[in-house]
Amino acid sequence: MSPWSCYRSTGLLCIVLLSLSIPAAIGDLQVGFYNSSCPQAESVVLSVVSKHFATDHSVTAAFLRMYFHDCFVGGCDASILIAPTKKKKTERSAGPNLTVRGFEIINEVKANLEAQCPSTVSCADIIALATRDAVALAGGPNYDIPTGRRDGLVSNPRNVRLPGPSLTVSEAFQFFSAKGFTLEEMVILLGSHTVGVAHCVFFRDRLGNFQGTGSPDPSMDPSLKAKLTRICGPRPKPLKKDPTAFLDQNTSFVVDNQYYNQLLMNKGVMQIDQELASDSSTASVVSGLASDEAGFLQKFADALVKLGNVEVLMGTGISQIQPSIDRDDVNLQGRDTTLAATCMTSDSAP
Ligand code: HEM
Repeated sequence: MSPWSCYRSTGLLCIVLLSLSIPAAIGDLQVGFYNSSCPQAESVVLSVVSKHFATDHSVTAAFLRMYFHDCFVGGCDASILIAPTKKKKTERSAGPNLTVRGFEIINEVKANLEAQCPSTVSCADIIALATRDAVALAGGPNYDIPTGRRDGLVSNPRNVRLPGPSLTVSEAFQFFSAKGFTLEEMVILLGSHTVGVAHCVFFRDRLGNFQGTGSPDPSMDPSLKAKLTRICGPRPKPLKKDPTAFLDQNTSFVVDNQYYNQLLMNKGVMQIDQELASDSSTASVVSGLASDEAGFLQKFADALVKLGNVEVLMGTGISQIQPSIDRDDVNLQGRDTTLAATCMTSDSAP
């Protein structure tokens, strides 16, 4: 009896039995997981990412955000990639994911890998490897990233619960502590805002009517306020036409610690960024990172590796389904736990 027919016929009881009978989630992710099954896996990822980075340095930001939004919603399982259809919305349909980008590049990597090592490399590992490579290309650390993740079966917009840009530090930290991160690690991961952009909708309130006061956020540097006001214009625009501003106003395409230095100058673009520098629980972490670039880069690498371990699926079989997610969400035509031929469709399992 295959896991799929078992699941269809007898439901939850069967899942429990399968999870007892099929070896699953044995051991940890490991560096070089594909060394024997697909020795060229990591070099294929690097070559596609490098090709895109050469003409568009913003791919670093694209992958960092995709990695975060994938890993924080049901674990690092590539469920963020599944494209919605007319009948079925997926994580990509959820508000926080509407501006996530880089999907086509991940699929391009996958197509290359399928041609060379069919049904071997998971999309979740491709996201993790592509993020690692793009960070290194942008001047950040070049770290080893363990692999061996399986792709998930569930992609439902209702599961997308991510922190918003106007939260306080302690509100934001609730999301991170729930995933096993310390407050310092949250500040370090937010250092990803050393690259990339934010649409005006995510910080416009700070420019004119901050928290309903009718005045701008007093914590924003006046020259930055003037610049962002020029960029954003007087009226809100639909998301697709909304202008963007660099999150790190100094070295916008480089993975370095300048983001923290900008915060110390009151040049954080979104409220959550600036609050890291003013909140008493995080201010000293920000100033420490601002004055220690090597320290930041090492800690950033460690935090990104840890992010890649969040609730990962491993092994084989339906028993990988995470208990915290509704069974209703499972797409029975969906990807097997690893090995779809493309990363973006939910009906292409081999
Ligand atoms: C409290 C935590 C966080 C909040 C509230 C937050 C919020 C946001 C928002 C609202 C944007 C703007 C998106 C847009 O306008 O399209 C953004 C951009 C970005 N975020 Fe975060 N973020 C957080 C943590 C993180 C983490 C942990 C990472 C990575 C590990 C990350 C990586 C990025 C990147 C790279 C961008 C730029 C994306 C681009 O240029 O397309 N963020 N974030």
